[in-house]
Amino acid sequence: MRDVVVIGAGITKFGELWEKSIKDIFVEASLKAIEDAGVDHIDSMYVGAMSPGLFVGQEHLGAVMADYLGVNPIPATRVESACASGGVAFRQAFLEVASGASEIVLAGGVEKMTDGADVTEVLAAAADQEYEVYSGITFPGLYAMIARSHMEQFGTTREQLAAVAVKNHRNGAKNPHAQFRKEVTMEQVMNSTMVADPLRLLDCSPVSDGAAAVIVASVDVARKLHKNLIRVIASSQASDSIALHDRESLTTLNAVVKAAEKAYTMADKKPKDMNLVEVHDCFTIAEVVVTEDLGFFEKGTGGEAAANGWTSIECKMIPVNTSGGLKSKGHPVGATGVAQIIELYEQLNGTAGTRQVGGAHVAMAQNMGGSGASCVVHILEVK
Ligand code: COA
Repeated sequence: MRDVVVIGAGITKFGELWEKSIKDIFVEASLKAIEDAGVDHIDSMYVGAMSPGLFVGQEHLGAVMADYLGVNPIPATRVESACASGGVAFRQAFLEVASGASEIVLAGGVEKMTDGADVTEVLAAAADQEYEVYSGITFPGLYAMIARSHMEQFGTTREQLAAVAVKNHRNGAKNPHAQFRKEVTMEQVMNSTMVADPLRLLDCSPVSDGAAAVIVASVDVARKLHKNLIRVIASSQASDSIALHDRESLTTLNAVVKAAEKAYTMADKKPKDMNLVEVHDCFTIAEVVVTEDLGFFEKGTGGEAAANGWTSIECKMIPVNTSGGLKSKGHPVGATGVAQIIELYEQLNGTAGTRQVGGAHVAMAQNMGGSGASCVVHILEVK
């Protein structure tokens, strides 16, 4: 495989974008990425989207977006892996350039969730219909079971979960694309409305509209355009049982562990080499579990790490979710994985503004679908 670099990025504001269609926001992010990259064409494109058919009645998203972006007749492929759709779309674009099949590929993600669909029901389609959804479970409910189990097994506390939300809102307040640019206090999190015990409103990622796109290319193309060489040094993906009851443990996400192992091997790096990580904090407990499963903290200590400030931008032990994460930046599910790559791209380019991690040169993104049945991990390095 040959080296692949990220040479451009574009993102819309995340939030309730009622005045814009799914096509509008995808094209907006894609045009920004193409302009940022400075390319005059793309060879092919991928569109990550979880459920545009159920959210807004539009399928065939590859062709739709190629048409509205004005790039026909290039190949355009829609990619679906629940909330990991964007990360998997990025991986497909990476593989296409790495294989030598294409020189310049757009990887985008989009979701329009606030246009009136029954969001909880649509999202639940990514869980096991027969055994989980039929019994009435929702995603907040699934992650609540993971949280309760983590609390019982390791003594993780409500305050530790709240610390994740406080930190991510603090970071998101510095991100111009974020849905919630406001800080929250421990008290506000602890007293927010109960959603699925023990998870409260401010433990949850929100319902969001948004789109994100990046351009990946060969090193030759990047050199001609005088770009910083932000290389994708690892891309890995793994799967696990879709239903929680089929797993050996509720507190370890095996697909995350396996994808991370492969990524560290491919990049020849260890957790201590990372300068920052974007993780899939769809609920506060997810950040706790994932930071453990990626090897940043010992199993059972992720909550303590968050409460001690070891994941904050200032601490520099391992800044987690400098973008504000899904919690504060927003979670338009198909766009999330690509938006994580954009945070890495900005951090490694030194353009993350007040969120900048000083001297960042290696960064990781972890994106997962459902309650962790699919997971994709990427490591980027400036070199
Ligand atoms: N974080 C912070 N604030 C939030 C929020 C969140 N997750 N969700 C909603 N709010 C705010 C709204 O902006 C609104 O504020 P306002 O009154 O100042 O305008 C208020 O809370 C109520 O919003 P509303 O839209 O009525 O909330 P809701 O009760 O319909 O939905 C959740 C709240 C938590 C149930 C919903 O956001 C949710 O389902 N989140 C999880 C999404 C999910 O499962 N994603 C996939 C993960 S795998």
